[in-house]
Amino acid sequence: MLINPDPVVVENSYVKNYDQLYKESIENPEAFWEKIANELFWYKNWDKVLDWQYPYARWFVGGQTNIVANALDRHMNTPVADKVAMIWVPQDDGGVVTYTYKQLNEQVSKFANGLKSLGVKKGDKVMIYMPRVPEQFIAMLGCLKIGAVHSVVYSGFSATALKTRITDAAAKVLVCTNAYPYGKKTVPSLENVKEALKDNKSIEYVIVVERVKTGPVSDSLPPVLGDQRQAEKIASAQSGGPSSSTPVFITWQNLISKQSVQCPTEVMQSTDPAFILYTSGTTGTPKGVVHSHGGYQVGIYATLKWVFDIKPDDIFWCTADAGWITGHSYILYSPLINGITTFIYEGTPTYPDIEIWWKLIDQYKITKFYTAPTAVRSLMKFGEEPLKKYKLDSLKILGSVGEPINPEAWLWFYKYVGHEKCPIMDTWWQTETGMHMITPVPSVPLKPGSAFKPFFGVDADVVDEKGNKVPPNTQGYLIVRKPWPSMLMDVYNNSKRYHETYFEKIPNVYFSGDSAKIDEDGYYWIVGRNDDVIKVSGHRLGSAELESAFVSHPKVAEAAVIGKPDEIKGESIKAFIILKQGVTGDDVLKEELKQLVRKEIGPIATPDAIDFVDKLPKTRSGKIMRRVLKAQELGQPVGDTSTLDD
Ligand code: PRX
Repeated sequence: MLINPDPVVVENSYVKNYDQLYKESIENPEAFWEKIANELFWYKNWDKVLDWQYPYARWFVGGQTNIVANALDRHMNTPVADKVAMIWVPQDDGGVVTYTYKQLNEQVSKFANGLKSLGVKKGDKVMIYMPRVPEQFIAMLGCLKIGAVHSVVYSGFSATALKTRITDAAAKVLVCTNAYPYGKKTVPSLENVKEALKDNKSIEYVIVVERVKTGPVSDSLPPVLGDQRQAEKIASAQSGGPSSSTPVFITWQNLISKQSVQCPTEVMQSTDPAFILYTSGTTGTPKGVVHSHGGYQVGIYATLKWVFDIKPDDIFWCTADAGWITGHSYILYSPLINGITTFIYEGTPTYPDIEIWWKLIDQYKITKFYTAPTAVRSLMKFGEEPLKKYKLDSLKILGSVGEPINPEAWLWFYKYVGHEKCPIMDTWWQTETGMHMITPVPSVPLKPGSAFKPFFGVDADVVDEKGNKVPPNTQGYLIVRKPWPSMLMDVYNNSKRYHETYFEKIPNVYFSGDSAKIDEDGYYWIVGRNDDVIKVSGHRLGSAELESAFVSHPKVAEAAVIGKPDEIKGESIKAFIILKQGVTGDDVLKEELKQLVRKEIGPIATPDAIDFVDKLPKTRSGKIMRRVLKAQELGQPVGDTSTLDD
């Protein structure tokens, strides 16, 4: 099925001829990216567009910039300064917050000065553990402004998950909320923070946003605010004195209240790290994916602009969370670099009711709407009636990200949300790629369920294990042959893992960990992960992390976890557990194990099913063959079992 673009969409489109531009971009990618980089601000121009010393790519080498210089500073002396940069709608009637670019810049400067007053310097790591509140975004920008490196941890992650990340990053400051509303519940997030900070060695300050003003949670702030010790500690940090391992808690309000609205933006090398974002991989603990200031901003700027045909009056709503890369690139940084209005809704798609998204689209005249297949599928189950009350006529382009979108969900989204006028940009990319990699642009004919073809300058392919291109419609490994500007710079603290994960499985190319097919027209069809990463509602979880949570239970001897297809969530988690000798498994134990995983990783990791088993399929060297378990569970052929033990 081929869906041709609406003539109005083509008319407004930056890219009218995909094939020609793609060809040009691939013949000379450096010239292509350099031209885009020239649309942005640089304190000093680069000496070299790309230094590619396999497997490390360094972009715009010698160039000096700062993402914040492009997201905020460069707009200050233009009409964009008075335009709305951010609209934030709280989940209950509690007052919408809007910032013009100028106001946002002032808030960011105040926070940046606040960080400086705590002794935070260029290169220091700042952890951000917050829900979708304006301060989350202000904190991110504030860090980058002074050259500090932020690491955002999704607010739904547990204390244990937070602790692992704080420890790996050796972060100096943590920014969090006291608590926050989530549907009908109030999440006491500061409790998690306190637990994560037990035996803490690096965090000196905890900055607390009081998202919930009243009640027991806000009273539970440690009683050091404003006291003598805090003053002494700040004075000591400012004079470079010693710091203790007991963090000082300070409220956001206290920190910023007396700070100046002016703060110089730190001049960064293009190749300096901007942020670390932890993501799950095949093995072990999450990997700290490192992104740069220079290359990253060029990649995200260009992709948003062309994929969503960004125009100055756009109101862009990306429904993701800044705990994930989608939120970094397309809620915050790229919309601001492009000088448009970014819209943020604090709540979930079904709170206070299942019409809230459609209501907000009409009320705020959202023009571009970017969401996840899981959300589409979960709203689709309520049928079309709830949508019929809304015009949805401000919408021009829709987007999908995070997991494959099945054709039924695609068509429903197209028909009932986009009224057959808005093309759907199914964007394939990853935390590591930083930007859209396989994606349509609005002017091309679409096939529901296909992510179209590579973005300009992206040399992608589908190959076999030796790196040879596979024939059309054959499943293979999705790889990228040449670097792109917002490619990850490294895995923090673990270059070995960077090499092994991305560049050693198939020599000379970037290995994405996904399988895909390319059809006879060159359209890509993403099949899913080919490693042990599970995508639950688009959230990325590693089997190994889940298994280690299970085996931390005293009654569990071994665990293996697989992802099973799920109609709404894409995948759901199923665990196979071997209990220790003498222990019998029952429903009570199953519930205990579910709760344990929630506590160790977070509610998104809650297993859907648990089976107690006597044996797990393993290789002769003792590795669990999850692939075999999955095939057995789904009643599919188990494939090659030559390495299977007995
Ligand atoms: O399996 C692919 C899937 O999400 C993975 C990356 O997850 P993460 O790093 O959390 O980033 C998600 C947001 C960019 C990929 O390896 N994925 C992402 N987008 C799509 C997708 N699968 C199919 N279609 C997509 N559009």
